[in-house]
Amino acid sequence: MATPDAVTVVEVGPRDGLQNEAKAVSTNIKVELIEMLAGAGLPAIEAGAFVSPKWVPQMADSAEVFEQIAKRSGTRYPVLVPNLKGFERALAVGARDVSIFAAVSESFSRKNTNCSIAESLDRFRPVCAAATAAGVAVRGYLSCVLGCPYEGEIDPGRVAELAAELVAMGCADISLGDTIGVGTPEKARRMIDRVAEDVPVAKLGVHFHDTFGQALANTLVCLERGVRIADASVAGLGGCPYAPGAAGNLATEDLLYMLHGLGIRTGVDLDRVAAAGRFICDYLGRPPASRVAQALASKIAA
Ligand code: HMG
Ligand code: MG
Repeated sequence: MATPDAVTVVEVGPRDGLQNEAKAVSTNIKVELIEMLAGAGLPAIEAGAFVSPKWVPQMADSAEVFEQIAKRSGTRYPVLVPNLKGFERALAVGARDVSIFAAVSESFSRKNTNCSIAESLDRFRPVCAAATAAGVAVRGYLSCVLGCPYEGEIDPGRVAELAAELVAMGCADISLGDTIGVGTPEKARRMIDRVAEDVPVAKLGVHFHDTFGQALANTLVCLERGVRIADASVAGLGGCPYAPGAAGNLATEDLLYMLHGLGIRTGVDLDRVAAAGRFICDYLGRPPASRVAQALASKIAA
């Protein structure tokens, strides 16, 4: 199968990236980062998480961040909500896109949200109903689709079943997360093909972490199987507080370099994303976890 003409890049750095940082990132830095990413033309930027501040302290100021960002028309600013309380907090500050998140592994579900998979789906049903009533779009995440830090192998049939449940609940699209970054291209291909039997591939996005350096290859394989939505994180920020050892997400700079090299349109300016990456990495006091960002910084001509 051929690669697509265009891909929607969902930037998750300000949420998936920063949620894992030990250093408290100030509200104004988060706002500036999101505005730089929006200025680069990214169509969707995950702006925060309305989760329990006891569980993820770094996201405690998501309401302030959301209220302060200058919203660009045409840019979406999804936020994570774990329950109705989170949805109501998000709605109160004017969020128009929310993301719910379930896991394919029971153990990870408990570590991440303190409930079973079935209980998490019960929590999400009223969130989806309230979002639909309010005209708010819902994205569904599934974690651990290619492996779990506690349970190991994951059955692609189970991923398909849960993805179909989230769509039936009202999710417009499903982001399939290799939360710990253990997948390889053949495994990713088998998983996507299996899920696409139960959910239209147009509704599927992929979310790879780069623990073993496979995130770009895994994303490409899924694009060749018909996926048109890819998540990435500026400067490769990220990890997961409940997945010890997991590395950052696929770096947005690396994804854009590959996509543009393949002639795939994104509408995103790579140099401006790299500038946003340098901005946040200077603040965090370390270099970007992106080969492309590093090469651009050394002014290597591509
Ligand atoms: P719990 O402790 O079982 O829930 O947490 P609870 O209902 O007993 O609430 C505990 C306290 O939190 C209470 O406060 C609640 O009011 C409060 P207290 O009475 O003790 O003062 N609370 C809230 N506060 C603000 N906003 C809320 C909220 N809900 C409850 N929405 C809960 C259950 C789900 C809340 C908790 O486990 C939680 O917040 N988990 C979120 C964990 C998280 O954010 N993980 C990272 C994101 S997932 C991820 O990164 C994977 C992904 O990137 C994809 C991939 O890579 O695979 C998406
Ligand atoms: Mg993630």
